[in-house]
Amino acid sequence: MLIRRKKGWEIPERDATPESIYKNRRQFLKGIAAGSIGATASSLPLGSALAQGSGSTADLYPVDRNPAYTVEREMTEKSKALTYNNFYEFGSHKSISQAAQAMRIRPWTVVIDGLVEKPIEIDFEELVRKMPLEERVYRFRCVEAWAMTVPWSGFPMKALVDFAKPLSGAKYVEMETASQKDTMPGLRQFWYPWPYIEGLTMAEATNELTMIATGIYGEELPKQNGAPLRLVTPWKYGFKNIKSIVRFTFTDTRPKSFWEDINADEYGFWANVNPEVPHPRWSQAYERLLNNGESVPTRIYNGYGDYVADIYKGMESERLFM
Ligand code: MTE
Repeated sequence: MLIRRKKGWEIPERDATPESIYKNRRQFLKGIAAGSIGATASSLPLGSALAQGSGSTADLYPVDRNPAYTVEREMTEKSKALTYNNFYEFGSHKSISQAAQAMRIRPWTVVIDGLVEKPIEIDFEELVRKMPLEERVYRFRCVEAWAMTVPWSGFPMKALVDFAKPLSGAKYVEMETASQKDTMPGLRQFWYPWPYIEGLTMAEATNELTMIATGIYGEELPKQNGAPLRLVTPWKYGFKNIKSIVRFTFTDTRPKSFWEDINADEYGFWANVNPEVPHPRWSQAYERLLNNGESVPTRIYNGYGDYVADIYKGMESERLFM
């Protein structure tokens, strides 16, 4: 008999795992979070980086998929998307998923400040429970020319902007990643301009594609992918997609992002995907799919031009694709 095994993204782990095992695992992970089990990130069993849905917002997932945002590509295997990462706070290589388990994500305070009616600090759990959650399948294209296709859960960034009530002078949103010196060994690499900063114009932040992701593959976002909340802008290179955000600052000044600060000639503010504009050190014409290494042609705006090209009309003098 042919038994069709569901792929990882089709069912949440709690549906696939007997409840007793699932609950015990949650207890175990809670124990680690509370420090009651003497495990450090490096001594956690292999596979813990794939553990999702153990946190206090696990009840929110899975959320309904919005059918307007699906793509024709095969979904990337969950194990690949969760173990091949860029998160320089934990190391300047792709295998940071274990090290990232040390990051503390509760309590998690989000600051909304700058040019807003009333600056606030809000607990992540309170914030996420106010937001309209949905799932969207998006392509994702790293500037290094690898690509994946993943189901993000989260909310349109526009909902956060509406919640923040920016003043009319606000032109940009600057975002900042947490700095945890004791859990993030990368912060000791003093030559990097920590903290990780990214920014969007108000038109980009409120574009319907722009998401604040709080989950992936139908469960809470794992730490290595930017828990508890990260930016998703599928038409831009991956480095714009800042992880583990602690601050949203509305400002009239264009933010200088982390990578722009390191090398503005290679990593600009706009960073829109374009196969015809090579990175100074490599072509962007093709991308390598994480699933099988297949090389496929890159598309302008990563295939999302219908949604975003209008934002950039009249801005041809800007380095929109770098
Ligand atoms: N955010 C922070 N704080 N630190 C980082 O190093 N790397 C960026 C982006 N966000 C990064 C970050 C880059 S270069 C990429 S390609 C994506 O995260 C990778 O996201 P993923 O690991 O979920 O695939």
